[in-house]
Amino acid sequence: MNPFHVKPETVAAQALGWIDEKTRAITPPLHLSSTYLRDPDNQYRSGRCYIRADNPAFDQPEAVVAQLEQGRAALLFASGMAAATAVFQALAPGDHVLAPKVMYWSLRNWLMNFATHWGLAVELVDMSDPAAVQAAIRPGRTKLVWVETPANPLWTITDIAATAAIAHAAGARLAVDSTVATPVFTQPLALGADLVMHAATKYLGGHSDLVAGVLVTRDDDALWQRIRSVRAQLGGTLGSFESWLLLRGMRTLYLRVRQAAASAQRIAEHFAAHPRVEAVLYPGLPTAPGHAVAARQMQGGFGAMLSLRVKGGEAAAIATAAHVELWKRATSLGGTESLVEHRASVEGAGTPAPPDLLRLSVGIEEAGDLIADLEQALARAQP
Ligand SMILES: Cc1ncc(COP(=O)(O)O)c(C=O)c1O
Repeated sequence: MNPFHVKPETVAAQALGWIDEKTRAITPPLHLSSTYLRDPDNQYRSGRCYIRADNPAFDQPEAVVAQLEQGRAALLFASGMAAATAVFQALAPGDHVLAPKVMYWSLRNWLMNFATHWGLAVELVDMSDPAAVQAAIRPGRTKLVWVETPANPLWTITDIAATAAIAHAAGARLAVDSTVATPVFTQPLALGADLVMHAATKYLGGHSDLVAGVLVTRDDDALWQRIRSVRAQLGGTLGSFESWLLLRGMRTLYLRVRQAAASAQRIAEHFAAHPRVEAVLYPGLPTAPGHAVAARQMQGGFGAMLSLRVKGGEAAAIATAAHVELWKRATSLGGTESLVEHRASVEGAGTPAPPDLLRLSVGIEEAGDLIADLEQALARAQP
């Protein structure tokens, strides 16, 4: 397959059309060897030496993700956290980085509790406001701006192109956690980002059966080589079976994500004026603060994550989650099954999630079934 002549849906469905040369198998074999034969003259001409640095199981999924994101290269990691933290660990002590106030809480905790220990100056800003980003830039010292859009758990939107322009004018790179947007709806590199990150645990894998992360770069430059070294030396390397599962999951990426996002839009619209719902947070609603930017930078949908603020506060929200029958009370997102979570309980102190907020990860079930289940749970939760 010449990936430049076909659409991304085709790239994903056929995983670039690669055929195993030895067996003519259409799906790849599972490579489990942890080490590779050295040539008699002491060289490694195969390019492979040891599994912590590289693995043939990575070649196809990395090529698929790089193609879907229109990037130069991709690297798989043992988790989304391993991928994200590799970017920060490739920086130098004293470097200043900007990250959003609203972002995936575990990465924010790592930035504040670990990255700062190793000398990074981490500053949290309102990433939905380009003027605030501009004001926080320290010329000459800011080396990285980290963006998540739509951002957990309020689904705040960042203007990638505007933020890239601000970062680049200051000589900094822009990295985008595009886990929720997925390559189906947003191409951060085409909008000016330098790096894209996915928690592949979520939509790319898509079946709640693996943990994985991936980074994609626009340039094969010194920073990218340092990130590659971080993976090889710190050991945040994905397993062979997880790489295989990820490749399988990505074949249906476009079908799953489009279906889930269409249902999310329907659910958001259904509950927007509901008497038992205080507010629906979803960038696909015209009333959402980031809707105009999202409509410009997301093509074909606004993602499948939304949050409901339940009237009656924390107790009513937790009671609603207690009464769902079809939705599953569980953390994570991006699987085929719909999940509900009281996010403030998970994130604890410092969370931007209000206590009445339920985070919804919409799966690929029939949307009417999902709406009916939330309706009955909201009704039963009321005092
Ligand atoms: C937006 C986002 N980024 C990063 C991560 C971290 O990914 P992982 O759990 O694979 O480490 C998550 C996990 O929930 C996430 O939702």
